[in-house]
Amino acid sequence: MAIDLSQPLKFAYWVPNVSGGLVVSTIEQRTSWDFEYNKKLARIAENAGFEYALSQTRYAASYGADKQHEATSFSLALLGATEKLKVIAAVHPGMWQPGVLAKFIITADHISNGRAAVNIVSGWLKSEFTGFGLPWLEHDERYVRTEEFIRILRGLWTEQNFSQSGKYYNITDFTLNPPPVDVPGRPHPEVFFGGNSTAAQATAGRVADWYFSNGKDLEGFKENIAGVQASAADAGRHPRFGLNGFVIARDTEKEARETLREIVAKAHKPAVEGFRDAVQEAGASTKDGKGMWADSSFEDLIQYNDGFKTQLIGTPEQVAERIVEYKKIGVNLMLTCYLHFQEEVEAFGKDILPIVRELEADLARKEGLDFIIDDVTPENIKAGV
Ligand SMILES: Cc1cc2nc3c(=O)[nH]c(=O)nc-3n(C[C@H](O)[C@H](O)[C@H](O)COP(=O)(O)O)c2cc1C
Repeated sequence: MAIDLSQPLKFAYWVPNVSGGLVVSTIEQRTSWDFEYNKKLARIAENAGFEYALSQTRYAASYGADKQHEATSFSLALLGATEKLKVIAAVHPGMWQPGVLAKFIITADHISNGRAAVNIVSGWLKSEFTGFGLPWLEHDERYVRTEEFIRILRGLWTEQNFSQSGKYYNITDFTLNPPPVDVPGRPHPEVFFGGNSTAAQATAGRVADWYFSNGKDLEGFKENIAGVQASAADAGRHPRFGLNGFVIARDTEKEARETLREIVAKAHKPAVEGFRDAVQEAGASTKDGKGMWADSSFEDLIQYNDGFKTQLIGTPEQVAERIVEYKKIGVNLMLTCYLHFQEEVEAFGKDILPIVRELEADLARKEGLDFIIDDVTPENIKAGV
């Protein structure tokens, strides 16, 4: 795999649009799921050097998140409240008609001057589908539908008189006007894709612009992207890679480790165990038993996207070094979550990002490359530009 060390890593944060924070624990979390909190957070994040925010789509309580805001409307409101941030709305193919979503995203793209994106998630919470009276497809079949869905989005965003007939959707001779905003270097709104199983990897390689992985250690991440790259190579494509990590940066490593211990000690046991039962519909239900959460321990599931596995825990220097280790093995975007989002996103921009940029510049220099950076320079970040 060609890893381009001349390009800076990109950063995203999870939008806390569901209640309870990003860890299922009774530890104090100064994070709120309401809109006012999120509006302020989005502005802090774009000033701190974050390029993307990722919303979550959830219709029913799970892992204790008993209140949720809808992802596409929430993402659109955050786009309206910001100037640079790209907001990625999570959507389930089984819940949307692709033409309707394509149109919705074009409008969001115009309102935000080319900053709308989607994260296509294939679904694991069976009761959301059956409760709505929607078909619940068997695991790998969900990805057959997802692939058709993404091909239609791309077709409707880039072609006139587009037609595609398949097993799940039929689009006939359709043109959406206006098309998405013409952003240099971006053929259409970016398509992210979250999923870990073998079927998810194969599908993402064929159709996604970005593959999102749950938290992983270095070896786990390498294994995870190998499947995506194999199918992308067959299709002549070059998707990029995002990885989730829960950040605990404190003045000392001891303090950071103690915070993790407290999160685990105060885990909300019934909620984590309920989540463990529900996710059996995901990775563990596949033929090869490989997939999201298939090998997650009780402790891993407390951050419901396995964010502890990435080990972004320690002093700002240690966290920055760890992030750059992931860059060396192919991560293009680090997706982050925190206990106290507003404070810690701001601190990330001030204390961690400048170190990451210095380490990246050193790395590029050692390889004889120029390190290309646009507006996010250590100097700009320190100066709060
Ligand atoms: C970064 C990321 C974000 C995700 N966001 C959501 C989400 O908002 N809603 C949802 O229902 N599933 C979400 N998923 C779950 C996946 O879409 C998928 O259901 C899950 O990976 C299980 O499928 P698998 O067994 O094929 O890996 C996300 C996954 C990842 C990696």
